[in-house]
Parts: sequence; structure tokens; C-alpha cells
Amino acid sequence: MFTRHLPMVGHTKGNRSAVTCALKCGNACAHPDPNCSSNPTFKDIVDAAISRRSALGLGGVAAAVVVGGTAVAGAPAARADHGNTPNWGGTLNFDAIAPVPKTVDDVTVPEGYEWTPIIRWGDPLFADSSEFDLEHQTRASQEGQFGYNSDYLNVISDGGNDRTGYLVNNHEYTNENIMFSPEYIASNPEDVVDAGIAAHGLSVVDLERDGKGQPWRYVRGGRRNRRITGFTPFSVDGPAAGSDLLKTVEDPTGKLVLGTLNNCAGGTTPWGTVLSGEENFDQYFVGTAGNAEQERLGISPGVTQRGWERYHDRFNLNNAGYENEANRFGWIVEIDPEDPTSTPVKHTALGRFKHEAGTVHIAKSGHAVVYSGDDQRNDYVYKFVSAKKYRKGDKKNNMQLLSQGTLYVARFDGNSPASEIDGKATVPSDGAFDGTGEWIALVDGNESLVPGFTVEEVLVNTRLAADTMGATKMDRPEDVETNPVTGKVYIALTNNSQRAAGAIDEANPVPGNRDGHVIELIEDGNDHTSETFTWNILLLAGDPATSTTAYFSGFPADQVSPISCPDNLAFDSEGTLWISTDGQPGTLQYGDALHKVTLEGPERGRVQQFLAVPRDAETCGPVIHDRDNSVFVAVQHPGENGKWGAPTSYFPDFVPGGPLRGDKVAAPRPTVVQVWGGKPGNGNSGNNGNGNNGNGNSGNNGKGKGKNK
Ligand code: FEO
Ligand code: CA
Ligand code: CA
Repeated sequence: MFTRHLPMVGHTKGNRSAVTCALKCGNACAHPDPNCSSNPTFKDIVDAAISRRSALGLGGVAAAVVVGGTAVAGAPAARADHGNTPNWGGTLNFDAIAPVPKTVDDVTVPEGYEWTPIIRWGDPLFADSSEFDLEHQTRASQEGQFGYNSDYLNVISDGGNDRTGYLVNNHEYTNENIMFSPEYIASNPEDVVDAGIAAHGLSVVDLERDGKGQPWRYVRGGRRNRRITGFTPFSVDGPAAGSDLLKTVEDPTGKLVLGTLNNCAGGTTPWGTVLSGEENFDQYFVGTAGNAEQERLGISPGVTQRGWERYHDRFNLNNAGYENEANRFGWIVEIDPEDPTSTPVKHTALGRFKHEAGTVHIAKSGHAVVYSGDDQRNDYVYKFVSAKKYRKGDKKNNMQLLSQGTLYVARFDGNSPASEIDGKATVPSDGAFDGTGEWIALVDGNESLVPGFTVEEVLVNTRLAADTMGATKMDRPEDVETNPVTGKVYIALTNNSQRAAGAIDEANPVPGNRDGHVIELIEDGNDHTSETFTWNILLLAGDPATSTTAYFSGFPADQVSPISCPDNLAFDSEGTLWISTDGQPGTLQYGDALHKVTLEGPERGRVQQFLAVPRDAETCGPVIHDRDNSVFVAVQHPGENGKWGAPTSYFPDFVPGGPLRGDKVAAPRPTVVQVWGGKPGNGNSGNNGNGNNGNGNSGNNGKGKGKNK
């Protein structure tokens, strides 16, 4: 029976629901910590440094470098480097909404705004696509339709045109238990497997609208419309392409992979392509007992939850000829949305791990820089710097930038004594959770810089290589994005329930870090190719009303919206940070949210909630088009905790604020949503959104209060 393979619900060590844990990341939190390296935490390193300095009579490490709490010293507030194009035009005007109870099944937006679904799982993309039919889903139907569980999103209008454009969206994972009826699963198990593989990947979809400031509609049959799935051929490039480590019986070249899986956050490059991170790919493969390389990535023996291995030999690494199949996932992939016939590429030069994010920033020197988080408890933050330089308008050149370069992993050194990191929000005596850091090079071009590893081994088993080089264990690095206005880099660390009290450090200062935090990283000289940086903690998330660890860069806690589990990051045209959350219902009992966070000036650290997503959903892919008074989000896994026939969500069509489009179905549908409208007025208004509006209806909390604090 197929149902034997469907997710086992039960554990909830993290903040997500049990179902989300099972399906999104293969119950990563229930497995042993895959980073068993003796690689020290930074508490060890700081303690050792302090004891060395004490022996020399030098006092604490803090004497070495001090970065102010606002961390602006030495950080030029210059406008973007060439190639990094913010969407200029003024920030959004809104009053923060109150946090929304997690049972509310609606999109909640600020007063004056409306929300409109642009495209839903199953919407037909091509003229000859099947109409969405829940009871008859197959690989073929899904290959013609918008995929499941949207994550990374971008919405791009065609140059100088307010009426046409396109979106690109990742489809991270599937939830077969609410996508298919039990009867269909029982009678069509192979169709369920293949429809599931085809519901992964990415979609490119043309858009149109009536004019500036109006909601977009998707265009069926648009010229750029494309589905990339778990079956789509990808070429492989970079130093590990063609390596024996990537060869299988189906691909003796090691340069051609079928499919992309678990695509999470990503980014649009200055040359118009899209990068997408292959994240929790481990869960799709049956591992080999006793294989340390697989264990480091969480690949384990036994049946997988979706049972793809029953119909596709490549998903069982014990099958002869397929031992390396999992090595072909876990990369940053690049697709060209302008050319639906192009072959997407897996870039080995950026290393292989649970890639979250992949946003290019062009350094002042012209090199392309990509930051990426490895989303696992106690894993690392990475940076890639291209060997070649960006050339504006030269797409052929630019599409080779990610093929060769230097791959680094980050070490974060705190500058306060360990005794001042007390596991609470107590700011160290130097005024900040902060310090310096180093980018440790793992690979330079075709040369390995990791003793005992070939370049191919570093790139394929990047975690194992980084373990030996002193990288800092972080609290689950998610999105990493460069502010296009200031050049500062922001790292979302979503949470880490396993951060032991004895293993806290200044960069990860909260034991059992339930709510996560955000680090601001400033490359030395604001040069993104620099091998050294300073950093500070922008915020320690939490509900300030109840948390002893919440911290907002000194901004008054009673004037911020509660926030937990920061995940995706975005910026508006003024360089203000926007943070979406994944896990608030498990911590704060509020629905997942999108927040605006002020970065500069006296209101630094101010968090204002802009929206909440429907029941059981996560907020993904925020895109802030403030010149259009629009915000776009991907509503991922609505109704995830429901069952077939007993859904917990009817999003998007039959929720209270929804459009009632008349095709009510027994399953919620992950959907890309545009929030638009807004109201005229000064761009800085907005109350703090604290408190609970009690009824979950949309609307602000005490309109007019708390303005311009
Ligand atoms: Fe797919 Fe790390 O979130
Ligand atoms: Ca400090
Ligand atoms: Ca994420």
C-alpha cells in the first residue's frame, strides 16, 4: 500500500507542524544532528582567545575590534553597485496589522489594501494543458500546470512596460495526503508518484494587467510559460562536472541530471536568469547504511516518505549504478526564464549542501558574489566569488560567471567575553552582539584548499570539507541577501532547538533558540570580495511581551510586532528590510507573517507586521514593489495539517476575503498572491501592531496610534 510510505506524523521538535516537518525537510529535526564534527563552536574559540590574551595581560578580545551597535561605522551608505538594481520609487505606506491567530484562514492585510490570487497550484499554463482535476492527476497533467508549494518568487515587468511581465516561482515539495484522495492513491500509486515529481521544480509564467498599480493576471499560453520539474534535464558545469562522483548508469558523463528537487529560496541575477537552491534533497533518497557522506547530509536507509524509489531506481542509492544519484542534487541551479527552450544548469562551483538562497550581488570590482545558507541546525554560511567579471548587457559572458570562482565558508568571531553572553537578551558591555569574521576559502578555481580533499570532493561533500576548516555552527541559515542600497548583507537564522546552553556564542547567543535571529554582515570596505567582515545581530526574534531573549537593536520592545522564525528576506526601494516567517504558529501561536524592519536611523530594529497568511501556511518569496504599492508573497502549504475530506483551509478561493471563484475543491491550493492598493500619506506611518485583534479579521490595530515613533 502506498499509504505505508506517507508521512509519519508525530514529532515536533522544531516550530513547524509535524506534517510540515515530515514533508518539507524530511523530519530533519527528529534526526541526529548531522554535524558531528568536533569543529569548535565560537564559544570555544573566544574562550581560548580570552584565556590566551589574559595570559598576555591584554584583557578581552573586545579590545581587538569594536563595532557599534548600529554598525554603520565604516559602512558606506552608497547606492547600489552596478548591476544591482533596486526597484526605486518610495516605500509602502501602511499601519502595521495586529498579529493574527494561527487558526485564521485568510490573508490578512493592512487597512486600505486588497489581496488577489495570481496563480494557484494546478492552474493550466499552456493552451493544451489539462484543466485542474483533483481526482485525475498525472505526470502529464501536472507538467502542464502550476506546481505545488511555492517558495522563491520574483515578479518582473517587461522593461518600460506596466502591462506585461512574468513571474518565476519555485515549487519546494509536495504533500500527497492533501493533494490526492486516499482512493486515488490506492488505485493509482504510480501516477501519484509521477505527479508528485512533476509538481516539484519551478514555473515561469507570463503576466498581464490593465496598468500600473493594478493586480497582475497570469497568461495561459504565454510565450515564456514553462514548467521545470523533477524530470527536466539539467546540464552540470563547474569543476565537479563530469566527476566520477556524479556519474550513474544513466549518465556516464556526470554532466546530465534529470530534475531539480526541494527548490527553496533563490534570486534573480542582474543578467536576468534565476538561481534556485536545492535544499532538503536528502529525503527523496534511500541511503546506504554506514555511509558517512550520506549521513552528513541526513540521507538515511529505509523507505522514503513518498516512495519514489518504488517506481524509479535512481532514488535508491543501494541500486547498482545509482550510488551517486543523490550527489546530483543539493546544488544552486540557474535557469533562463526568457528562453523556454534553454537547458537549465547545476553549478558545482557553488558547492553542494542544503542550499537556501542564491542571490547575486555584483561587487565593486565587477565580480559576481553569491551568498548561501545551509539550512540545518549547526550548519554554515557560504559565499562564492566569481573568477570572471560581470559585463553589463553581455549575457553570454555573465551566464558563465557561476562556473568558476572561489567558494568560502564563514567563521564568526564574537568580540565580547563569553561570560557576557548570558543566554538572554542582555546586551554585552560593548553595546552589541557583534564581532569580526573571516571567509575561509575552500576552493579557488580548480584548486582545493582543504587538506585531504580533491576539488571535486570539496564541492560534492562541502559540509565535510567545511567541518575541517573552522566554520562556525549557525542556527539554521536560511535566506542571505545583500541590501542593494547599502551593500550590507543580512542572514536569516530561523531557529535551532538543539543549540545547547553550553554551545552558545555571540553570533548564536540564545540556547534552544526557538525564535531565531537575524545577523547583519558588513564586508570590510563594503567590498563583497573581501575575505574579512564585521557583523552584528540586528534582532533576536520573539514576542517581546513574553520572551526573555527578544532584542531589536535597542528599539523599544513594546513598539514592535512579535516575530518568530525569520526565513525569506527582501528589500524595498529604500533598502528597508522585509522578513517573512516560517514557524510562528508553533512558537507565538500566530499565523506566519511578513514584516517590515527598519535598518537605519533612530528606528533601527522596528518591526511592523504587514500581512499574515492563511491557516497552516508559511509566508514565502516576498517581493516588494513599492512604486506599484504592491507586495507579492507565495503562500506555501496552506491547510498542511488537514486531511483529505477534512481540510483545515479552503485557501484561496473560499476563505473570507477570497474571490469566490466558484470552483471549490476539497484541497487548499498553494498560491501566489498580490497585495495591492494602499493609501496615500506619509510613507513612515504605521503603528506597532502589538496585541491581538482577537477575531482574526483583517484590519489594523488601533489605526493612527503609534505613528512616527
Ligand atoms: Fe525551505 Fe530552509 O526553507
Ligand atoms: Ca560584542
Ligand atoms: Ca526557506
